[in-house]
Amino acid sequence: MSNNGRTGNKQLVEIPVERWYRALTDRHSWRGYQKRPVEVDKLAGLRETCLSLSGPGARAEISTENLENIFRGIVGSYGAVTGATAYAAFIGNMDDPNVQENLGYMGEGIILEAVALGLSTCWVGGFFRPEAVTANISLAGNETVIAVTPLGYRTATPSLNDRMLKSMAKSRKRKPLTELCSGLPETEWQPWISEALEAARIAPSAVNRQPWRFEVATNAITVSAVVKKSSSRISERLDCGIAMLHLELGAKHAGVEGSWEYLTAPEVARFTLSGEVMPKMI
Ligand SMILES: Cc1cc2nc3c(=O)[nH]c(=O)nc-3n(C[C@H](O)[C@H](O)[C@H](O)COP(=O)(O)O)c2cc1C
Repeated sequence: MSNNGRTGNKQLVEIPVERWYRALTDRHSWRGYQKRPVEVDKLAGLRETCLSLSGPGARAEISTENLENIFRGIVGSYGAVTGATAYAAFIGNMDDPNVQENLGYMGEGIILEAVALGLSTCWVGGFFRPEAVTANISLAGNETVIAVTPLGYRTATPSLNDRMLKSMAKSRKRKPLTELCSGLPETEWQPWISEALEAARIAPSAVNRQPWRFEVATNAITVSAVVKKSSSRISERLDCGIAMLHLELGAKHAGVEGSWEYLTAPEVARFTLSGEVMPKMI
């Protein structure tokens, strides 16, 4: 596939750094939900987050319709999300060369806002019915529903589906940074680099595959995607878009600002600090 047109700067959006940074470690995927409805003001707040994060390549809609038909399991209802009363649909414009990265970044912002509101979530890229989504949400031009997340109050104990999928994907495990990073040795990392990489490392990915790799420089981190031959139709670049938001949150939490430039595969994007940073004094 051609990468023409993938490069360019990512549009900057305002993000509530402290609020979402706290949500990074509170977020876990949940598949079993109580029937309890999500409060109207929380749904309204999430709709505002959708609007603020939406761009030409990706947008999101919140719905409380047709929940019984949205989620499906691996076989029948085995592995499916159950009981949720609301969900967000993540919609990509397939004409955008960076649709996957933009959608991952946007979707994770909505998920972190939901977590900050006390709700549970689960990225679902495989086991949902796009036709059940489009029964209530209309799509324009070349738009596709790429993923969804339930939004709601999880059951007190993990459902059988949760236990099964968490153990299948080894959901709690993450690769160590030593396996993910190249470039500047760790002994020379500024504090912002450590914080940004740790935040990116704990990001969620489809089947917890963690396809991101990080090339570290004094004033920049380049994210690349390892693409394995697999039957998954979920793009590794989407996972990397999620990790981009985590990385940016870590950097901003450490007190630095920067911007994103999209790159051609296998690279995904580079986060470069605004202004000069002195190399670490040893
Ligand atoms: C893009 C994406 C797609 C996913 N699709 C599914 C899915 O179809 N079904 C499911 O049960 N979990 C899905 N997950 C959840 C992952 O399995 C989960 O994020 C991963 O195992 C890490 O666990 P955690 O989210 O609890 O940290 C998806 C996650 C991502 C990021």
